[in-house]
Amino acid sequence: MRLGVNIDHVATVRNARGESYPSPIQAAVMAELGGADNITCHLREDRRHIRDADVRFLKDTIQIPLNFEIAATDEMIAYACDIGPYAVTLVPEKRQELTTEGGLDLTEGVRKLESDIKRLRDRGIIVSLFVEADANAIVTAAKIGAQAIEIHTGHWCTAMQKVRTTKEAWALIRKLQDADRIGHEQGLQVHVGHGLNYTNAAWMQMLPHCEEANIGHAIIARALFVGLPTAVKEMKALLNEPAHKPHLGNA
Ligand code: PXP
Repeated sequence: MRLGVNIDHVATVRNARGESYPSPIQAAVMAELGGADNITCHLREDRRHIRDADVRFLKDTIQIPLNFEIAATDEMIAYACDIGPYAVTLVPEKRQELTTEGGLDLTEGVRKLESDIKRLRDRGIIVSLFVEADANAIVTAAKIGAQAIEIHTGHWCTAMQKVRTTKEAWALIRKLQDADRIGHEQGLQVHVGHGLNYTNAAWMQMLPHCEEANIGHAIIARALFVGLPTAVKEMKALLNEPAHKPHLGNA
């Protein structure tokens, strides 16, 4: 499974003091050295972490693909078409939220989304939609032209914190497994992201079609103590090495 490292939190620390360091660009290069397969960054409407100039600089600096997360606004779609990242992940965005709180609502505004997807695809950009683990949302994503979905794992991560028995853990992963299977049946690339950390990420090995995990907060937090290349290497191992795959004995 590919690992996309989200470097937004490095920009959060930089912006907290109005300094030019730590640099999210340097972080991206260190993540790449550690074995990251993609770099993900989210340009939010309020520019609270990543700024416009960061995106351009990132795109020109890293050797691995850039996954650019944006809300589907005309401003952001135009900016993405201008920059030309490898992939765009469309996410819902609310000003007051701490972080992206849920998947896209694909019950309304779908026509506009369809035309946004077309604009991006016409520019040669792979388009992924951040969705809940919900069959209707996944089928709609395929219908309106997305090539990939990123299944929102945040609710699953929260629920996993409360799990006390192996049986409960295995019951909980089923919803993500269903979403993974439906995405695959719809011809979509399946990605996952949000809330994944060093205690739960290995469960993503139970999604046989999932090709990519996008992880930010946990990796940047661990990097404070072990360094970014090591933090990335450790996460990649959890996502890929058979020794970490949950089984009835270690779940
Ligand atoms: N995927 C998406 C679509 C996100 O919005 C975020 C948060 O920016 C992430 C993945 C990474 O989430 P986390 O920081 O919890 O790993």
